[in-house]
Amino acid sequence: MKVVLGSGAYHMAEEVKMKASKYGREVLEVEIKKFPDGEKYVRILGEGKEAVVVQSTFNPQDEHLIELLLLGDALKERGFEHLKAVVPYLAYSRQDRVTKEGEPISVRAVMKALGIYYDELYVFDLHNPKTLEYFPGKAVNLSPARAIAEYFREKLGEGLVLAPDKGALERAKAVAELLGLEFSYFEKKRVSPTEVRMSPVEVDVKGKNVLIVDDIISTGGTMVKAADILREMGAGKIFVAATHGVFAEGAIERVSKAVDELAVTNTIPTPVSKISLVEDILRL
Ligand code: R5P
Repeated sequence: MKVVLGSGAYHMAEEVKMKASKYGREVLEVEIKKFPDGEKYVRILGEGKEAVVVQSTFNPQDEHLIELLLLGDALKERGFEHLKAVVPYLAYSRQDRVTKEGEPISVRAVMKALGIYYDELYVFDLHNPKTLEYFPGKAVNLSPARAIAEYFREKLGEGLVLAPDKGALERAKAVAELLGLEFSYFEKKRVSPTEVRMSPVEVDVKGKNVLIVDDIISTGGTMVKAADILREMGAGKIFVAATHGVFAEGAIERVSKAVDELAVTNTIPTPVSKISLVEDILRL
């Protein structure tokens, strides 16, 4: 199986190249560049029958998406028969319903377009896993729980794992179970796009190290509020993890100041993308 890295996976390239053979994968050479007018150019420099294309679609989202389509077309043109798209962070995944008449279901448009070329689609921690139904082939929502648990295992010790709201409980539970630890959640109410109200958890956190796990950190408001509550409750060290670091301006600094450590996975490259999902990807 050949592995193709789009420019949305360049931040993983070194690790992928180092570990590919361990998983029976071979990295395929591709040329990716931009024309002077801004359009993308891709060229596949090798051959094969099956390929895994790794392309995360963070900002510039549209550019990464187009490149993924071009890679699919180029691979099919080159004679590849079966293509898997691994899209660690799927752009437009939060636009999953029509809220005002005349809007698209953006995630549906993206999934359908990818389905033209790709037979299988793998994403991490999708905003609404039900939207995978829009992809015409096999579509899988992967969990980063193993990587997050391994990263925090020693730091957390006999601590506990918390979700910042009830909706995120399954994610915290998955990490907690891998570590054999207790888990719980905060009651959270969003009062505006930048403000959340949260109530203390009902478990005893006094003197215990705590890991709060979420899917996305954007403004950081949720995590800062949760950390403040935990400090007041007398928690030990406070660690924060998320799958996708979609950080708004100043969010990394705000969260880092409020907690003992902030770490997100490398679905999006950021200064705190310390948890690698490369081995999970190479296993696919
Ligand atoms: C919301 O339901 C998500 O799971 C996250 O909790 C949210 O996106 C985090 O946003 P922020 O960092 O802006 O509080």
